[in-house]
Amino acid sequence: MKAAVLGGSGFTGGELLRILAMHPDVEVSYVSSREYAGRPIHYAHPHLKGFYSRLRFEPLSLDRALDADVVFSALPHGVGVKLTAALYESGVRVVDLSADYRLKDPGLYPRIYGFEHPYPDLLGKAVYGLPETRGEELRGARLIAVPGCNATAAILASAPLVATGLVEEPVRVVVDVKASSSEAGSKPSRGSHHPIREGAIRPYSASGHRHAAEAVQELSRLAGRRVWVSLVPHAVPSTRGVLASAHSWLRDGVDSRDVARAYAGFYRGRRFVRLVEPGTQGRYPDPKFVAGSNYADVGWAVEGESGRVTGFAAIDNLVKGAAGQAVQAFNVSIGLPEDAGLGIPPLSP
Ligand SMILES: NC(=O)c1ccc[n+]([C@@H]2O[C@H](COP(=O)([O-])OP(=O)(O)OC[C@H]3O[C@@H](n4cnc5c(N)ncnc54)[C@H](OP(=O)(O)O)[C@@H]3O)[C@@H](O)[C@H]2O)c1
Repeated sequence: MKAAVLGGSGFTGGELLRILAMHPDVEVSYVSSREYAGRPIHYAHPHLKGFYSRLRFEPLSLDRALDADVVFSALPHGVGVKLTAALYESGVRVVDLSADYRLKDPGLYPRIYGFEHPYPDLLGKAVYGLPETRGEELRGARLIAVPGCNATAAILASAPLVATGLVEEPVRVVVDVKASSSEAGSKPSRGSHHPIREGAIRPYSASGHRHAAEAVQELSRLAGRRVWVSLVPHAVPSTRGVLASAHSWLRDGVDSRDVARAYAGFYRGRRFVRLVEPGTQGRYPDPKFVAGSNYADVGWAVEGESGRVTGFAAIDNLVKGAAGQAVQAFNVSIGLPEDAGLGIPPLSP
């Protein structure tokens, strides 16, 4: 299949190109960038020198994208929404890494993303691209909304608990997220520029972080009732990775064996979830051990006396939190093996 990558000069665009270079059924035919148009791919992505020798960045163009069978869009939210809608309407499969199709309720877009959604009907047609919770719906999907990285970690950390009704009502999940600097993209801002960001440990968007709305949507669907999600990200001094620690309180009578069964049952057979069982490996999930891969390491802890339960999920924000998840969801959508192009193990150290 011919693939186009829109926004190919950015961090997630680079990860898409790295992963698609290993994909047996995909050939990249068009990569967009305004800044690097006319330049070879390795000009923006030196690590990809020797791959894509025949390609150069090109300006963003609907006509060029229409020539592809699948378009991966790694543009900022709001920027590509008209283009992706036109591509979808023309029959091209669209995998959108931005937030443009993640939320089902169009009324949330002005408050959370600052724009009136121009195609509210498409929100109902888009499938939220988290294969661990939407596997069946993704089969045949032509418009895939790839989840946010913090949302992916928050949902994977707490899904087994809320889906099996182990959490006391009202169902509330307080998610503490540790976020790396590549989450902010390749263009430095005042807060994300290296001299300011390096060594920083600070909360941000501590009230109403954008990804909380996605987590509410997905966890409420799994629970079959409203789930309240409070999500506080913290910038930490690393380049890649997200760790979500999701705290809730267990219903009376639920113990750690029920929790262990819930996680094992929910993730049974899931290719990219590795359970880190408390005690067995003497550690909890750590983004360090999933770096560069599409794995999510998931674990949990129960504090018997207080009834507090914490689910943990560690992912690489650029892979399972973005480009890898996009390719995984695309694979499922067209009936390819879920791990096509994604077999690479994590890096260490
Ligand atoms: N970083 C993460 O961890 C992460 C995780 C999950 C999802 N996402 C989402 O993925 C998308 C890309 O994120 P990123 O981190 O890769 O950002 P990035 O590094 O800033 O890359 C953005 C890309 O979009 C292009 N672009 C920006 N503004 C444009 C415009 N007005 N018109 C045309 N092209 C434009 C840029 O290239 P030129 O300026 O050269 O055109 C660049 O190729 C965003 O929607 C983000 O929310 C990011």
